[in-house]
Amino acid sequence: MSKSIFKLTAIAVSLVAFVLPTAALSASKPVTSAEVTGSMPDKLSVSNANVFNRLLKKVNDPNAAPDKDGIHDTANEGTHALQAPKVAYEGLPTTEFGNHIDWVQALNSGKLDPRYDREDPEVEPFVMDLDIVRPVKASVPDVVFPHKPHTQWLHCSNCHPKIFIPQRNTNQINMSAILLGKKCGVCHGKVAFPPTTKSCKKCHSKPKDADWTPPLSNATVKNPWR
Ligand code: HEC
Ligand code: HEC
Ligand code: HEC
Repeated sequence: MSKSIFKLTAIAVSLVAFVLPTAALSASKPVTSAEVTGSMPDKLSVSNANVFNRLLKKVNDPNAAPDKDGIHDTANEGTHALQAPKVAYEGLPTTEFGNHIDWVQALNSGKLDPRYDREDPEVEPFVMDLDIVRPVKASVPDVVFPHKPHTQWLHCSNCHPKIFIPQRNTNQINMSAILLGKKCGVCHGKVAFPPTTKSCKKCHSKPKDADWTPPLSNATVKNPWR
């Protein structure tokens, strides 16, 4: 039991480590000329952006040991006592992106047994199995938002109502917002798997019907020149 709590603590630490690099990077960057002239966009919105953004520096090793991740204070003894993510992640199913662990599969295969309450180890999660399909106007497959793998880790209040109004197809979501760290991007790219060229299919998982055609706007349909 104590061993698994230790593992979870290390996982929590590494999940946090996943959030920090962009903030840490912006803090250590030299002052740019745009900043001097004051034309730089709001600092907060820049550091909130997903690391997927090709203009931001990539994290070389997302699972570096605490004393090598550039986030923890190496002068602090505690840093060296922390369990390294690679040790904690041993034996967990892997993926090709993010911190290279398939957390959904790790949980479903029983390799992880998270606690849902800090004080009471008996608390069970309130898991809801409800898929929401978000039809996408572009030719990419439609998005399926599955409540199940989310509510296995999160509470309803982590998303409702602040990030998403709990009503089907009411929220406006698009890739730009996600890549800027909003909507799904509040978590994906930070503490959950990031949008990368290898992970599109995880969210865009429902193929279009065979007879699907791009929707035409009224203007196009009425165009006498067509
Ligand atoms: C990770 C974020 C997240 C979590 C956690 C979450 N939801 Fe949702 N929920 C969504 C999204 C996204 C939608 C779809 C909104 C849309 O399509 O505009 C949604 C939609 C809904 C809807 C509308 C369904 C419909 O048919 O109109 C209900 C009800 C709902 N959620 C209840 C819950 C409950 C209860 C929980 C906790 C057990 C929960 N949600 C946890 C993100 C979440
Ligand atoms: C975390 C989930 C997630 C990932 C990963 C993801 N998408 Fe999306 N994508 C969405 C959602 C949600 C929408 C909005 C769907 C809607 O219109 O309701 C969307 C919309 C889109 C659209 C339509 C235009 C727009 O911005 O709304 C395109 C094109 C697209 N995605 C391409 C991609 C590509 C390419 C990748 C991989 C590099 C990718 N997506 C990865 C969730 C995701
Ligand atoms: C509050 C945080 C949060 C938000 C917001 C959120 N997710 Fe997630 N999502 C997670 C976590 C945590 C997981 C499980 C860990 C992982 O897979 O990285 C997950 C897993 C998933 C999975 C399951 C992947 C699998 O392996 O089966 C999909 C699909 C997904 N998210 C899509 C979305 C889409 C689409 C949105 C926006 C409509 C969204 N998520 C918003 C936190 C979030």
